[in-house]
Amino acid sequence: MDFNRIAPYFERLEKIVFNNQMECCRTAFLPELPSVKKVALIGEGDGRFLVELLKDGKFEKVHYIDSSQKMLELARKRMQKFSPDTLRNVGFYHRDLISEPMPDQNYDLVVTNFFLDVFDEHSLNESISKIAASCKRTAIWLYADFQVSGGILQRAKAFAWIKVMYVFFRVAAQIQSQRLIDPSKILESNGFQLKTMKEFHRGLMKTELRQRI
Ligand SMILES: C[S@@+](CC[C@H](N)C(=O)[O-])C[C@H]1O[C@@H](n2cnc3c(N)ncnc32)[C@H](O)[C@@H]1O
Repeated sequence: MDFNRIAPYFERLEKIVFNNQMECCRTAFLPELPSVKKVALIGEGDGRFLVELLKDGKFEKVHYIDSSQKMLELARKRMQKFSPDTLRNVGFYHRDLISEPMPDQNYDLVVTNFFLDVFDEHSLNESISKIAASCKRTAIWLYADFQVSGGILQRAKAFAWIKVMYVFFRVAAQIQSQRLIDPSKILESNGFQLKTMKEFHRGLMKTELRQRI
């Protein structure tokens, strides 16, 4: 998978297609997150969520993790521009989670925004287990992604949208997966139970707050 080529256009593309809905989805639970020590933002991309997360000053150490060097550079530049005072709290890790380990252990909070949908079933299982193993016993998992839900018409529309997006991202970023896989069961089997969720863009996307109990 290679998001380098589309990294500079990612934000613009998202806004053209979904206006501000993906950003609303990513940040919906930010005010509800507790103040914790160590956070991992995995597949964080161009760093927009990172900057928002750091505004609250609730987190001691934040690890940015992404396999795209271009995305990492964009995120670092964004931090330098919008949040230079908090740069010392952030560790940037250029990592491919399929082949490499998590950079650290004992995370209190992990965030995967529009990230798990790039994996096929095998890698999804492996990645979630790897991330879960790096978390503290009562860790929180904040997750945002697309979904197919609702009545027949809503499901048909979602299915069509998601099909188009997969065709695009398979060509533009060589993503592994050919279809959207619901990670709920894998998250649950790793102990992360759903606490609360919100839907956006007429149910096409959702964000979930999960915790290991
Ligand atoms: C669809 S983008 C989402 C970016 C961002 N989280 C957002 O909400 O817009 C997926 C991100 O995951 C990263 N990624 C894909 N495969 C990865 C892997 N195996 N390990 C780490 N990061 C990966 C990509 O480089 C990209 O930045």
